[in-house]
Amino acid sequence: MTNRVRKAVFPVAGLGTRFLPATKASPKEMMPVVDKPLIQYAVEEAIAAGVTDMIFVTGRTKRAIEDHFDKAYELESELALRNKTEMLSFVQNMLPKQLNCIYIRQPEALGLGHAILCARPVVGDEPFAVLLADDLLDGRPPVMKQMAGVYDYYHCSIIGVLDVPRSETGSYGIVRASPVAEHLERIEAIMEKPAPEQAPSTLGVVGRYILTPSIFRHLERVTPGSGGEIQLTDGIASMLREEQVLAYRYRGIRYDCGSKLGYLRATVELGRRHPEVGDDFTDYLKNLTLPEQT
Ligand code: UTP
Repeated sequence: MTNRVRKAVFPVAGLGTRFLPATKASPKEMMPVVDKPLIQYAVEEAIAAGVTDMIFVTGRTKRAIEDHFDKAYELESELALRNKTEMLSFVQNMLPKQLNCIYIRQPEALGLGHAILCARPVVGDEPFAVLLADDLLDGRPPVMKQMAGVYDYYHCSIIGVLDVPRSETGSYGIVRASPVAEHLERIEAIMEKPAPEQAPSTLGVVGRYILTPSIFRHLERVTPGSGGEIQLTDGIASMLREEQVLAYRYRGIRYDCGSKLGYLRATVELGRRHPEVGDDFTDYLKNLTLPEQT
């Protein structure tokens, strides 16, 4: 088994019901924050961590993701014809050349755990990253790179976590853990979306994981849990009985772009820092007075 994280799985087959009707015919992961779709932020984060094989677990209405990472012949010849050389080179060099993009279909949205299980034939017997693109993480260095560094040292599964308000535990996987080192805790238990009074802590799981391939064996045995879905949390709970899993308190800001409010926050905050429009947008916000509604 190789000990470097070379592969990343991007589960993008969810229904995205919280963003309907925007997600009726196009995937949530293609929604742009300023000028880049969510999935591209996640892919760039994986590239920064040294990942070379991007495995997308897609579902219906997800063809836009394949097209986004594919060569765009028509667009390129159109840009060349119009002498838009800067834009052309930008489109052509969006991703490093040596990258492999692999697409797998999840026939039905049976849950995150099931989506990851669909990637098993391509991942094989090696550790792999999982990135949920609707969690946009802004970290320096990029969060998956931080996690790959932790993996290089401990060689076990690592899960990204953050402290959440107790009133919000019902929206997260929650772990009970004990400290191992700075930013790092050993997970003792994990629960999917517990009510605040039942939550064993307020340490919530975010959409970044490095998993050892034994997760597949555990996911295979998981029966549908919360919401009738095969939950990754249940696979991790089963894994905990056999091997160490660490919780990593990443350094960075999280935007929950699976929710409308988080998505709007990301748009405003990344918009303010955007090299092209940031200053003007900041001025606009400072002077913003809403017109009276008639
Ligand atoms: P979410 O819980 O955010 O579900 O999935 P969702 O369907 O995307 O969105 P809502 O809640 O209906 O608005 C977390 C991640 O797991 C993927 C999603 O694409 C998302 O990246 N997922 C979920 C799958 O790939 N397959 C599934 O069956 C379920």
